[in-house]
Amino acid sequence: MGKQVVAGWTRDGWRSFEARHLPSYADPHALGDAVATLENYPPLVFAGEVRDLKAHLAQVAQGRAFLLQGGDCAESFAEFHPNTVRDTLRVILQMAVVLTFASKRPVVKVGRLAGQFAKPRSAPTETVDGVTLPSYFGDIVNGIDFTREARSNDPQRMVRAYHQAAATLNLLRALAGGGYANLRQIHQWTLDFMARSPWADKFNSLADRIGEALDFMEACGVNPASVPQLHGTQFYTSHEALLLPYEEALTRQDTLTGDWVDTSAHMVWIGDRTRFDGSAHVEFARGIANPLGIKCGPSLEPDVLSRLLDTLNPQREPGRITLIARFGHDKVEDGLSRLIRAVSRDGHPVVWSCDPMHGNVVKAASGYKTRPFDRILREVRGFFAVHRAEGTHAGGIHIEMTGQDVTECVGGAVAITDEGLADRYHTHCDPRLNAAQSLELAFLLAEMLNAEAGGRARDAA
Ligand code: TRP
Ligand code: MN
Repeated sequence: MGKQVVAGWTRDGWRSFEARHLPSYADPHALGDAVATLENYPPLVFAGEVRDLKAHLAQVAQGRAFLLQGGDCAESFAEFHPNTVRDTLRVILQMAVVLTFASKRPVVKVGRLAGQFAKPRSAPTETVDGVTLPSYFGDIVNGIDFTREARSNDPQRMVRAYHQAAATLNLLRALAGGGYANLRQIHQWTLDFMARSPWADKFNSLADRIGEALDFMEACGVNPASVPQLHGTQFYTSHEALLLPYEEALTRQDTLTGDWVDTSAHMVWIGDRTRFDGSAHVEFARGIANPLGIKCGPSLEPDVLSRLLDTLNPQREPGRITLIARFGHDKVEDGLSRLIRAVSRDGHPVVWSCDPMHGNVVKAASGYKTRPFDRILREVRGFFAVHRAEGTHAGGIHIEMTGQDVTECVGGAVAITDEGLADRYHTHCDPRLNAAQSLELAFLLAEMLNAEAGGRARDAA
């Protein structure tokens, strides 16, 4: 970083590009008031933290670390509660311990949290029983209830979202650094959880080995009290930079380097629907120094991706770009290898991350939107297989999950059935993995990473 101003870029230059999926606000003065309020609020993250995350992601790009990104599809005002935030963090950290042990690599932890509010929708309106109203665009824009009042776009919701993000981030920072995240504690929760799980047998030996490693270190005098690295961890935040007026208002120039940083989160990503040639979202992202994610779906042509990478990372800075592949269980092998070859040919350093959620949505017989756990798993396996074949690093995973015991995705060892979906289907948007399914996924990923680590050891011998 430290390149300061990006050629021809201004904070509001995106306004002369094509902006899809942005809500329209009836009253421009009300919008102006909300934006002016946000512009006077403190940044949520500090530019130095953003640089640190980029350096960690550069390690991932070079095959020396693994990225774990997870959290809500959409955060909501109604579900906001300290326990929800804490439980989501806890499950991400439990997954991280398992993945660190299996890969023998640091795991970079990034939440879809503290700002993941805005949703792109396939249709601008929704019709129920002959009544047509605007679609729900996320709590930062309008309300989920199917009434004209709730569905009208209110710019003050951006201010409320900011306050919720600030409170969430404050709690995350406190928990990550204040002792809650200490390695012993996190592993103990995994053991407690497994004691109650019917699938525990499958993964006991891995959990035992983690415990033994900790016991061994303890005997050597290495414990959370003596070694600060075991006492806490770094936890970063991310969301889709969709609602550009909000992102613009929180984009500030770093006084140390002159870089423009979107201080609404450490990392932001561009969705599969807004990464087209000439997109306002791409233009905005081009000038901010944050690490960027790009969602890559089956419709993304390799040459479009090449142009995107040249636009967003002309200096080929490692850690700048994370490509988040979301193909679907039956399309990943084909689609991903085409993209990997194009990116490798161009010499772009990227983190390859697997989003096994968004390409695997099905409608259950009960009418609920769900994601079968076995398809999620199949996409992850396909992702690892393609990287093995191409000789590239399967660098990360991006999931929608919660620490709560919801019933939104079918399957898993504690099998959730079609009929069971109705029990606790709480999501404001897409179906999420629950705590048990997330942890099970981590153990299954551990087997894949273990195989990768075994391969490395053999190559070195
Ligand atoms: N600080 C180390 C890390 O972040 C070890 C660690 C402490 C850790 N608490 C953790 C790892 C919780 C994962 C989860 O890697
Ligand atoms: Mn989603």
